[in-house]
Amino acid sequence: MNNEYSIAIVGGGIVGLSIAFTAIEPGSKVAIIDPAPGRGTTWVAAGMLAPVTEAYYGEEPELHLSLAAVARWPSFAEALEHESGCRIGYRQVGTMVVAADNDDRTFIKELYDFQASMQLDVQWLNPSEARELVPQLAPSTRGGLLARGDYQVDPRLVVDALVKVAGDRAYDIIRASATSVEPVVEGGHSIKLDSGECIKAGKVVLCTGAWTSQVPGIPEYISTAVRPVKGEIVRVSASEPSRLPSHTVRAIAKGRSVYMVPRLDGTLVIGATMEEKGFDTSVRSGAVYELLRDAREILPVAGELCFDEAIAGLRPATPDNGPLIGYIDGNGAGGGTSGSESETGHGGQTADKSLIVAAGHYRNGVLLAPITAEAVKALLQDNGDRIPPEVLPFSPTRFAGAGLTIQAGYSRNREPI
Ligand code: GLY
Repeated sequence: MNNEYSIAIVGGGIVGLSIAFTAIEPGSKVAIIDPAPGRGTTWVAAGMLAPVTEAYYGEEPELHLSLAAVARWPSFAEALEHESGCRIGYRQVGTMVVAADNDDRTFIKELYDFQASMQLDVQWLNPSEARELVPQLAPSTRGGLLARGDYQVDPRLVVDALVKVAGDRAYDIIRASATSVEPVVEGGHSIKLDSGECIKAGKVVLCTGAWTSQVPGIPEYISTAVRPVKGEIVRVSASEPSRLPSHTVRAIAKGRSVYMVPRLDGTLVIGATMEEKGFDTSVRSGAVYELLRDAREILPVAGELCFDEAIAGLRPATPDNGPLIGYIDGNGAGGGTSGSESETGHGGQTADKSLIVAAGHYRNGVLLAPITAEAVKALLQDNGDRIPPEVLPFSPTRFAGAGLTIQAGYSRNREPI
């Protein structure tokens, strides 16, 4: 193996692989470093493309980013299916959020009022309207809201298609973990691998998701900003896909949130827990019970299907629930004066433009992958004008300012739905 690359992508989940697909010209010398590409968080993800039903009070920058991200998906899906020759399960069917009882309905109504006040595309449904759209809903459900533009894709099909494209383009997929990323005097970085090898790359993009804190050599303000939040998911399936709902169904069931994502092949993905347990990916038996119990309360058919899988993944969470996308400033100081490019981390004078981070996508890695790749393309080309404006608030240097201490475990608290 010739160990010199123009670009190395550390982390082959949906974010890293999407960058390899859309941010880099075919013909470039590229390494994608991951012990099991596409088999981490992406493999567990349900694939909801849900800017509206993942919108929360006080997270307007995240909402604007998500809305811009969902608009990228049609062309991303078309380009990926065209180049790979694979279907990726992109479905433009909407998402309902329904209530199990009147208290749950009050909660969802407040959320609806917030979403409507933000001019989002939502419609209130009374119980019979909800059941008209999804006849599989339990007769006891109390109605809710419909987000017509919250779609879905199958993340497993997406990453398999992206790996195929990377192979077809002759990118090197190195099945190893990075044990250090260090600058070298002549420019670029050297990356040591747990296989004992060492490679050199002119530019490095860290797409290390929940494992970002585990990459030695990167500044502390980056590594302490990302922490894992475990999510368990259950997959069941129907031999007759028509038994499944036509829409993604999210619900509040006695104050607990659950979602059910129907696939065309008859799979129903039921998720997900939110647990702060470090890097533990064991599946708790009680989590499987709770997910199936809540799913069956909303969609009784969920209790009659074939049990296929229970699996846990690690969401890469950050203190403000937004991703880190930008150059890494090696001194960790954020650099520059207020409003300067260097402070944004998106084209500044002091940032090391050979080291980029695209991590911390929390609950929305699948949704945000195409827009992240678009931003990273601009960063790799040192063309700050082409960074989508919705990405600008998510510079990593927002966690590097003097006097700002990031405490592990701190997050803006919010209940997911
Ligand atoms: N995006 C759904 C989840 O993180 O569970």
